[in-house]
Amino acid sequence: MIKSNSFTVEINGQTYSADAGETVYEVAQRNGVEIPTLCHDPRLDPAGACRVCLVEVEGQRRLQPGCAWKVDADMKIQTESDRISRHRQVLYSMYMSDHRTDEEGGLPEETGNVNQLRELCATIDPIPLEKVEAPRAARPGDDNPYIEFDPELCILCARCTRYCDEVEAVNAITLAERGSETTIATAGQRSLIDTSCELCGGCIDTCPTGALIEKKAPKLMPLETKTTRTTCNFCGVGCQMDLHTHNNRLVKITSPAPGETLNDGNLCVKGRFAYDFVHHEDRLTEPLIRREDGQLHPATWDEAIKVASEGMNRVKAKYGSDALGFVSSSRCTIEENYLMQKLSRAAFGTNNIHQCAAT
Ligand code: SF4
Ligand code: SF4
Ligand code: FES
Repeated sequence: MIKSNSFTVEINGQTYSADAGETVYEVAQRNGVEIPTLCHDPRLDPAGACRVCLVEVEGQRRLQPGCAWKVDADMKIQTESDRISRHRQVLYSMYMSDHRTDEEGGLPEETGNVNQLRELCATIDPIPLEKVEAPRAARPGDDNPYIEFDPELCILCARCTRYCDEVEAVNAITLAERGSETTIATAGQRSLIDTSCELCGGCIDTCPTGALIEKKAPKLMPLETKTTRTTCNFCGVGCQMDLHTHNNRLVKITSPAPGETLNDGNLCVKGRFAYDFVHHEDRLTEPLIRREDGQLHPATWDEAIKVASEGMNRVKAKYGSDALGFVSSSRCTIEENYLMQKLSRAAFGTNNIHQCAAT
């Protein structure tokens, strides 16, 4: 008899369909049942490291991690109960006893990084615990230009190291030392630029507490920023990115959440960090037309387009369409490249259209 890959499970008394191989968290999330997480990232294999997502599974003596526990037919799961509430209260309080707090100058909100641990702590009545002395090593001499690590905000969820391994396949950072001295380190505590690190910044993006932050984004990042979704123009992949602007100035770039766009929450070093050029004083901000005096003069877009089309039409009238050639770029979007060939073929009647990726 062939065993079906789909079955039903019960979560908090409700019946949901599930597929073999899915985790409790995946089934719950798909059906709008909230389970808190910290070490979970949908791009990574489950690690079950933070214990924030523990749920009750019928027949199991211990609470089990929803992010890693695979569902089975007719499984009965409870995601909210007195026992789970007590577990969360103790766990979050213990995390905070080893975590820099607001009063001690913890994660400045101005960095724009969310601290998910603080958000979870707001849902419980914390137990006052003595602060734990945990002398975890940072990398004070790490003069890489982009990434800063603050061990006082690290909860050792290993999302950064797993991301570096499983998504980037770089392994530049790792969990090092033991016990209360466990930290996120590079080989020999070298600067990231002296390791295999590609400075993609994915570790910043996945870090749930702001222990990894961007050096480059202004420390006093304005809280009121406007977010604009756009396409990266550094290569032809078409990664989506969110531009954060304040007073019309670009202050930071982040990736849309995993699963939302084709780049699945990832960006490369150029997409994430190379945005200084946007406000460089040498950039042209308006079209220029070379007038009869031989000098370039500012013009409106309407004027510039008119002058360019008149010039190309003059060439076509005198020498024929094939005297014209159009060159586009792999850095443009596919829509822009389509429009360029349309301009070449339909408007000017030539197949002389080329793009750098075609070589
Ligand atoms: S920036 Fe990218 S390559 Fe470097 S440590 Fe972080 S995830 Fe790894
Ligand atoms: S630096 Fe951030 S992502 Fe890495 S282990 Fe610490 S808290 Fe987790
Ligand atoms: S999210 Fe499940 S153990 Fe961390």
